[in-house]
Amino acid sequence: MLKLLTIIGARPQIIKAAALSRAIRDHFADTINEVILHTGQHYDNNMSRVFFKEMEIPEPDYNLHVGSDSHGKQTAQMIIGIEDILLKEKPDYLILYGDTNSTLAGAVAGAKLHVPVVHIEAGLRSHNKNMPEEINRITCDHVSTLLFSPTKTGYNNLISEGFNKDTKSPFTIDNPRIYHCGDVMFDNTMFFSGKAEKRSKILRILHVKPLNYVLCTIHRDNNTDDPVRLNALFNSIYNIAGEHDIPIILPLHPRTTKILRQNLSGKLYDSIINHPNINIIKPVSFLDMIILEKNSSLIMTDSGGVQKEAYFFQKPCIILRSETEWKEIVENRTAIVADANKKNITGAYKELTNRKNLHFPPIFGDGNAAMFICKELIRNRI
Ligand code: UD1
Ligand code: UDP
Repeated sequence: MLKLLTIIGARPQIIKAAALSRAIRDHFADTINEVILHTGQHYDNNMSRVFFKEMEIPEPDYNLHVGSDSHGKQTAQMIIGIEDILLKEKPDYLILYGDTNSTLAGAVAGAKLHVPVVHIEAGLRSHNKNMPEEINRITCDHVSTLLFSPTKTGYNNLISEGFNKDTKSPFTIDNPRIYHCGDVMFDNTMFFSGKAEKRSKILRILHVKPLNYVLCTIHRDNNTDDPVRLNALFNSIYNIAGEHDIPIILPLHPRTTKILRQNLSGKLYDSIINHPNINIIKPVSFLDMIILEKNSSLIMTDSGGVQKEAYFFQKPCIILRSETEWKEIVENRTAIVADANKKNITGAYKELTNRKNLHFPPIFGDGNAAMFICKELIRNRI
């Protein structure tokens, strides 16, 4: 048996991990044994628990319950816990997703114990090292043995950082193997879209009609923690909801909810909370999120995952950041990088709603990325 230790912690990692766990359960149960470690970075029911049930992800074998803290303290607590479990479980591979502090902690603990690190969602770059995620993903990539990039851009980023595309097995931390293999999140979207249609009642609950509302998420620290940026974002939302008379649904990350009253001007806060077209709700489950994305007229977001899902569901997207890792969706003219700038955001709304014949060529694979990854793990067994 090939033994994997998978580390998850934040909401998007739980969601991404569902694809690999499903491939293992359905196709490789005799060959691969997956042990799951939840760092506890996200812990609210609607940020963690809900996904395990709904997406049939196996219960974590371990939960470190680290909770929220400063970057240093949170990451340090994770490293301590992960190290103990790596020593006990002695896995063949350590599986890490994305770019959170849980990813960074796993990379540091695994690499120092000489456990081969497998990075899923490797190679993505914003080229902005003020983002904590950029530091996490660069560090993780450079101590990984197998690197699976979802996009061609990600793969090319790795090559430009010195990774060799022609390495031969056996692969090691000093002789890593890079792949361009498609996106496990696209696998999930394909898999769960039909189930979501059958099970989700979110449109009825929120009293919105298909193609007649905007979906918006905001959670990046530089947007939530900077009052100037947060006011600009919510001013834009207020403007679009009023000028275009369109409902805007905001399933808000707890980070944003907690800081909204403090960082928005009192007048704007009251206007947002009382606006008939603006509906701030708690984070929703993945099936509800799929339905909200699929039926929206447009998506505004600073989330990495939601930008991609907008593309999967062929929705125009306003990116509420100064750059994106998903260059292709901007090049294809289905998304606009508008930053936290009211003029850009309201302009992007008009431009995208007027753009005719948006094209969404496939750039995130064929829905079989997790199968590909499992096969490569078995083939390259170290
Ligand atoms: C983290 C990731 C980010 C990812 C996001 C996904 C890092 C550095 N950042 O950001 O890349 O896009 O997850 O959602 O790892 N909180 C709760 N309940 C929870 C979790 C968090 O209330 O279950 C609140 C706490 O006040 C906490 C804050 O959210 O301090 C931020 O949480 P944290 O995990 O530190 O970072 P995220 O902003 O969620
Ligand atoms: N998501 C969800 N419910 C929500 C908001 C987001 O299920 O209320 C899902 C979304 O569909 C995507 C993932 O969470 O799959 C994105 O996570 P997030 O935006 O927290 O982090 P990021 O992708 O930016 O790291």
